[in-house]
Amino acid sequence: MRLVVTGGAGFIGSNFVRYMLATHDDVSIVNLDKLTYAGNLENLRDVEDDPRYRFVQGDICDAIIVEETLRGADAVVNFAAETHVDRSISGPQDFIRTDVLGTHTLLEAVRRLDIPRYLQISTDEVYGSIEHGAFTEDSDLDPSSPYSASKAGADLLVLAYHRTFGTPVLITRSSNNYGPYQYPEKIVPLFITNAVDDQPLPVYGDGRNVRDWLHVDDNCAGIDLVLREGAPGHVYNVGGGNDIQNLDITRRILGLLGKDEGLIRFVADRPGHDRRYAVDCAKLHGLGWAPRISFEAGLERTVEWYVAHPEWWRPIKSGEWRAYYERQYGDLA
Ligand code: NAD
Ligand code: TYD
Repeated sequence: MRLVVTGGAGFIGSNFVRYMLATHDDVSIVNLDKLTYAGNLENLRDVEDDPRYRFVQGDICDAIIVEETLRGADAVVNFAAETHVDRSISGPQDFIRTDVLGTHTLLEAVRRLDIPRYLQISTDEVYGSIEHGAFTEDSDLDPSSPYSASKAGADLLVLAYHRTFGTPVLITRSSNNYGPYQYPEKIVPLFITNAVDDQPLPVYGDGRNVRDWLHVDDNCAGIDLVLREGAPGHVYNVGGGNDIQNLDITRRILGLLGKDEGLIRFVADRPGHDRRYAVDCAKLHGLGWAPRISFEAGLERTVEWYVAHPEWWRPIKSGEWRAYYERQYGDLA
């Protein structure tokens, strides 16, 4: 299978590239990535010499490079996106550009080149917040942030291309991922690396917001399965079944690192902060998928990875990251 992965230098994309090269002998992968602040070729250092892998630097909004890169592909998996909710609140424009227009640029190329499979990587955040129970794939979209609204816009375009042009699309909507190589702006790597350095952990609001945590390797297995066996035009939820409050995660991270809870700081809440996310994954279970990594084991492994790889995150936590952190967290930084 000749696969084009976009956004493969980011967190989930790089884990997916590594997962696919390790799991399938007959796969070749071209990784099209713009290398924004979140893209990092260090994430794929260990596979860059694999003859089945090639990197192309480029923007998914650039129709020429997209068409050149996609020509001859058997499948496209689109991870490329602006992904951080807080950044979408302070500056939504890049989100609309990459997440909506970029997706449209890819869809157009897929249509023109007759590519047999297009998988859009989406998020459970498109459904919005749910007090009790879980969203199914048929639930209405009700996004709260400019990030989730952009992702919802992309999902609607993807499904419209299927209905209108018969484009063979698939969508996965996963819950919050955690694991190695996640940019330290998201809660898990931010809190682990701050705690290592005895820096405060900024908990938004009352810390009782709930996310469903999914280890990135389990997400990669789900994406691989949907790519091979999903039905065109269909959406598949991918969740870990781990509904956990932010404060609980924060305490577990501190516990695993042997740090004091005095590092916890309650700070102003995120505007439009969704209270709880939860997805029903019966449809993907029907294809034979189930998460294999318990949250306890996965979080412990993840903490160990960041502790063992300061050479990965210390350089990140200097330049652009530092400026962002000061803007976002003010006095705390
Ligand atoms: P990330 O921010 O770590 O990486 C995004 C990657 O996309 C980077 O390598 C970046 O350089 C690249 N990129 C950004 N704009 C681009 C453009 N215009 N052209 C080409 N490349 C571009 O993101 P992630 O956490 O790995 O998320 C990957 C995908 O999964 C996203 O679509 C996101 O919406 C979705 N998702 C993420 C999570 C999560 O918990 N991280 C959960 C559900 C869904
Ligand atoms: P985040 O990792 O940004 O993912 P998302 O917003 O896509 O779910 O945030 C996860 C949860 O952690 C969310 O409820 C917001 C909260 N959070 C904090 O309390 N403090 C922080 O510094 C960050 C980044 C997130």
